[in-house]
Amino acid sequence: MDDDMDGTKAAETDMAENVGLSKDGKKVVIIDQSELPARTVRLELGTPGEMFGAIQKLKVRGAPAIGIFAAYCMYCLAQQTETEDMEDFLKELEKYGAYLNASRPTAVNLSWAVRRMIRTAAEHAPKGRRGVLEALGRECVKIQEEDIAMCRAISEYGLGLIREGDGILTHCNAGPLATSRYGTALGPLILGAERGMRFKVYADETRPLLQGARLTTYELMRAGIDVTLICDSMAGIVMKNGWVQACFVGCDRVALNGDTANKIGTSSVAVLADYYNIPFYVLGPSSTIDMDCPCGERIEIELREEEEIIKKYYKEPMAPEGVTCYNPAFDVTDHSLITGIVTEKGILRAPYEKSIRKLFE
Ligand code: MRU
Repeated sequence: MDDDMDGTKAAETDMAENVGLSKDGKKVVIIDQSELPARTVRLELGTPGEMFGAIQKLKVRGAPAIGIFAAYCMYCLAQQTETEDMEDFLKELEKYGAYLNASRPTAVNLSWAVRRMIRTAAEHAPKGRRGVLEALGRECVKIQEEDIAMCRAISEYGLGLIREGDGILTHCNAGPLATSRYGTALGPLILGAERGMRFKVYADETRPLLQGARLTTYELMRAGIDVTLICDSMAGIVMKNGWVQACFVGCDRVALNGDTANKIGTSSVAVLADYYNIPFYVLGPSSTIDMDCPCGERIEIELREEEEIIKKYYKEPMAPEGVTCYNPAFDVTDHSLITGIVTEKGILRAPYEKSIRKLFE
């Protein structure tokens, strides 16, 4: 499998769906999130290397969006698998799935979607190659449609937690680009705005890759929501000033005990919120809950390249050559700091193991 990460750069277009299929149904089309907000560029990705690279380089990012993307990738790669022998076909598909899974380790939605596509293929194997491809084509669309519905339900539950005029602090980006349509952490705000409600949002810029600055402010401004960009180190002062009534963040993996992995810096926001007595909510679909993961210590945290801290987004290096860096992409917020986990099925409260198990009964 080649590691070419370019894909086909298509013309600049207006933003609609962030992930979908090309007209002929053979390639995955994404909005390249690494180019936003300066340019809205669509990429068509057809090879395993392009798909792997798109996840690794955060051209497609946000746990649910990565899951949806992986499902579409599996469908496109299945079409490229020519054998009529269903045993070989499934083996090929598993190989592609393992390859995609290796691109980023923390968000559970990736392996969840890959597993679901492989299971669908196995279930339809007796129908032969054509039957399997038809089933896979339906399944990836279903995964995206389910995500749209889940985000909408999460938005309704989340909106019930805040009042007109509230200040909300958010970290990273958990909006439409990271999911489908409304998003998770930004969903209640976008839904509320549609209903004429006003909020004041503080968006952490989210070092080092600036998802908050580049994507959250972009999405909220497009939705007509009052948003103020702050550096991550400023979260404490806006809380101390009394400007924040709730924190809303997304999640990449929720362990059975409620410990939650999300973008690096999230746990610092939770500690601050606890100190200033501000409710801290995690919002995410139930597909982000990993029932096989008992607690946060078991969540693998992705480590990324040093150059993201030192050079990326700077004209010249911002640290002496040879400096040692530590660049974890995520951290785990302890369940004791989480006021509630807002899912499409309702709001989970502590003790989380009990409420999570009940959710899946
Ligand atoms: O590294 P990223 O940009 O993929 O990290 C994204 C986050 O941490 C989001 O908050 C999370 O995936 C939830 S998106 C609904």
